[in-house]
Amino acid sequence: MKQAIEQVYRELEQLKCKTLKDVEDARIRFLGKKGSVTALMEQFRSVAPELKREFGQKLNELKKAATAKIEELKDNVGAAETQQASGEDLTMPGDAMELGSRHPVSIVRQEIVDIFRKFGYDVAEGPEIEDDYHVFEALNFPPNHPAREMQDTFFVSTGHLNPLLLRTHTSSVQVRTMEKEKLPIRVVCPGRVFRNEAISARAHCIFHQVEGLYIDKNVTFADLKQAILLFAREMFGADTEIRMRPSYFPFTEPSAEVDVSCNICKGKGCNICKGTGWLEIMGCGMVDPNVLRASGIDPDVYSGFAFGMGVERIAMLKWQVNDLRHYFENDMRFLHEFATATEV
Ligand code: PHE
Repeated sequence: MKQAIEQVYRELEQLKCKTLKDVEDARIRFLGKKGSVTALMEQFRSVAPELKREFGQKLNELKKAATAKIEELKDNVGAAETQQASGEDLTMPGDAMELGSRHPVSIVRQEIVDIFRKFGYDVAEGPEIEDDYHVFEALNFPPNHPAREMQDTFFVSTGHLNPLLLRTHTSSVQVRTMEKEKLPIRVVCPGRVFRNEAISARAHCIFHQVEGLYIDKNVTFADLKQAILLFAREMFGADTEIRMRPSYFPFTEPSAEVDVSCNICKGKGCNICKGTGWLEIMGCGMVDPNVLRASGIDPDVYSGFAFGMGVERIAMLKWQVNDLRHYFENDMRFLHEFATATEV
């Protein structure tokens, strides 16, 4: 019996198959009903009782080895046959798949929105093709304000009282929110905006904004300052300081521009902050009573603040990429720089 087992091992070792049919024939020869391994299993019945343990183990091992060998041949011969049929070499190394990553503008927009979400703000979106009423009129723009001219705004249709245009800011979404939501309102409006500007390193005809609006009873300028300070510290680091400079927007009174302390030179002055130690990040102010009134909110009962920032501007400060055009050209070499930053 011992010899018979060794003989089967030798045969298995020398076994070669070219086709799947050869493999199946071999399987029958070894493991089929009349196969050599099966025959040995039957002989096992007549083995002397004191040898049963030893041979039982040996036979089990043989059966396992035979099964494994047949499976291995089946895999190899099968792959070779498929390859012959398709004419491809399946053993060639594969092409690495190029993984996409989030666009830097999307990364920063999400970061800004997430910070305000944490503060309890909802997110609202609105149409990119808007009407004059929601972009200008309801926001207290005087009839001949320069922003309403062709050289600043892309018009889709003109010649009637409420022309269609590409929104120049997402403040229009704030108007839509005031029209339909119940008070108090706490909302951020991320989105794409359009301005009729010559494209350069510092200006583009398309960019992204996140604007915010908070309206409730007794909202004061101190609340605005605190909200912006908390945002700046979440965004640029816990030691960030802010300062506000008086400014003008038709829809806020008083209005301010917000600067953050330069996180590159820590206020000492470098070429990013042009030696001033401060970087401008957004406009803001207390919502003008005319704006509240236009959307049916009583300015004697409610007050609020609004702010708006450019996403590309924040991205430029975050990564010191000082040419806006990079964000729109979709050069893969540029986009790949941000691949690891997106691995969340
Ligand atoms: N809408 C302004 C802009 O596009 C930004 C802003 C929003 C300023 C809200 C003040 C308050 O520049």
